[in-house]
Amino acid sequence: MRLGLGTGSTARHFVELLGEKVRDGLRIIAVPTSEVTAAQARGLGISLSTLDDTPELDLTIDGADELDDSLRLIKGAGGALLREKIVAAASRRMAVIADESKHVRQLGAFPLSIEVNPFGLKVTTRQVEKACGGAPAALRLTPDGAPLRTDGGHFILDARMGAIADPEALGLRLHAIPGVVEHGLFIGLCTEAYLASPNGVAVIRRRA
Ligand code: A5P
Repeated sequence: MRLGLGTGSTARHFVELLGEKVRDGLRIIAVPTSEVTAAQARGLGISLSTLDDTPELDLTIDGADELDDSLRLIKGAGGALLREKIVAAASRRMAVIADESKHVRQLGAFPLSIEVNPFGLKVTTRQVEKACGGAPAALRLTPDGAPLRTDGGHFILDARMGAIADPEALGLRLHAIPGVVEHGLFIGLCTEAYLASPNGVAVIRRRA
């Protein structure tokens, strides 16, 4: 199987368990969604590939910051949304693993991450805030106060919207801004979600 490996604290558990299976003889090839996940997987002896060598994946397994009943997602708190979206879009299936607290009626309580080019940051920030209905978009910083750089060398803005009435329309508005590289709304990519709670695991699948 050709697997996409997600990024974040939940995906980290998955990669750890996958490493155990690989040690027991499971044969897979994996494309990681970040340098952090690549380093973890390499350390566990998981065979890695790139999308250039393996452009079609069977399944990507990743976490999410929020998901709704239609399997629309907010992703990006871990700073890897661009590679996560590229890898998910190259996959036949994308499964989200999360705890049930991530399952919401309406997206947007969690800040929306938007990856932007550092050039013209102030202008792009203003345009992003306008696209987000005036919600403030804060530049994400590292603990020492410098702008966080993604694996692709970009910056991240986090827009606090509270609620996103029309995620599809917002996604189009953000894509129309030249300085926006990609946004954290994943629409039409997730095919199934596994949501853990003290009562077990609930599964949501995309309707055929
Ligand atoms: C990484 O950029 C993110 O999209 C993560 O997948 C998402 O933030 C979920 O992370 P946790 O599993 O750490 O909550």
